Amino acid sequence: MTSLAVRGIGELLTWEAEQPVRHDAGLVISDGVVAWVGASGQTPAADEVIEAAGAAVIPGFVDSHTHLVFAGDRAEEFAARMAGQRYRAGGIRTTVEATRQASVDELRRLTASRMAELRAQGTTTVEIKSGYGLDLDTEVKLLRLASEFTEETTFLGAHVVPAGSDPAAYVELVTGEMLRACAPYAKWVDVFCETGAFDVDQSRAVLAAGMAAGLKPRIHANQLDYGPGVQLACELGAAAADHCTYLSDADVAALADTGVVAGLLPGVEFSTKHPYPDARRLLDAGVRIAIATDCNPGTSYTSSIPFCIAVAVREMGLTPTEALHAATQGGAWSLQRTDVGHLRPGAEGNLVILNAPSHLHLAYRPGVPLVRRVIGSVQI
Ligand code: NIG
Ligand code: FE
Repeated sequence: MTSLAVRGIGELLTWEAEQPVRHDAGLVISDGVVAWVGASGQTPAADEVIEAAGAAVIPGFVDSHTHLVFAGDRAEEFAARMAGQRYRAGGIRTTVEATRQASVDELRRLTASRMAELRAQGTTTVEIKSGYGLDLDTEVKLLRLASEFTEETTFLGAHVVPAGSDPAAYVELVTGEMLRACAPYAKWVDVFCETGAFDVDQSRAVLAAGMAAGLKPRIHANQLDYGPGVQLACELGAAAADHCTYLSDADVAALADTGVVAGLLPGVEFSTKHPYPDARRLLDAGVRIAIATDCNPGTSYTSSIPFCIAVAVREMGLTPTEALHAATQGGAWSLQRTDVGHLRPGAEGNLVILNAPSHLHLAYRPGVPLVRRVIGSVQI
């Protein structure tokens, strides 16, 4: 048994119901699990002791939506958008070409380096999707690679219809042979339900087939316009509906009624110039929200949850505390995990010591490297 104590914590965010924020606190991790939380002066002895010297300590971030396994980038596409061009889902095919050409070793090296970026910025749990292969062999290759880095792997064969394929035939492949080959390496099934990608009937077929194969559903929904994706997520009891950029009142009510988590991805609106979703409207309606990076080469090439928190606070109506909650506990809800996203006794010992006295600095000092030390489990 090995134990680690952190003492002298100026501000400790555990998300305990009674006392979500403690001051002058201590915490002990025993065999990788939070074993004790209390006043700094009463911190039990441990094998190793870290003096936080008044710094803030927060749960490790839970990034519930990424597309980390890909090759190439689309910086020119980004620059064109900043000059006024619209985002189109078809850009995904550019990344598919580059990814198909890359070797497994090259993709592993690229993914490991992105994982290192995430971890350096405080992320300790990450979801990774396939979706830049769009043929059976490449989708399997991407999922096998993703599963080297996380248990939260998502089959997104239904990202777009690949160039030259017939949509109906491709849905048949994704719901049949490709699903059977990919399911052993995936926990989740996802679909991009959007004009230009998959319509609601195709999306329902993809998620239903995945569920029948033992995968749990999540969805890319309502990113580029109003549409049926959120309602489909609620109908199927998906864990999360991600993007939620364009929501009707009925969509908001359905999310609140069903408990489907709304995954908000501020990096996407930043990089596509679509309007930011109104997170305040969601919280006021009783919807559970998560904040994630959506790290991908097309719509959000950031690996930084602190960046997403800062943007969510500035543009989406959240307080810094609500944004941090959405990027930790909210991410855990989205992945249906009870062992991460908080620091209550029993949680995985995943935490971040900030170079700051308060978590408010995550939004107050945007772009500043505030992560002093990360403790816990991202495999890299
Ligand atoms: O989550 N919306 C669909 N998929 C990605 C974008 C992928 C791309 O443009 O390469 C997203 O935004
Ligand atoms: Fe995405």
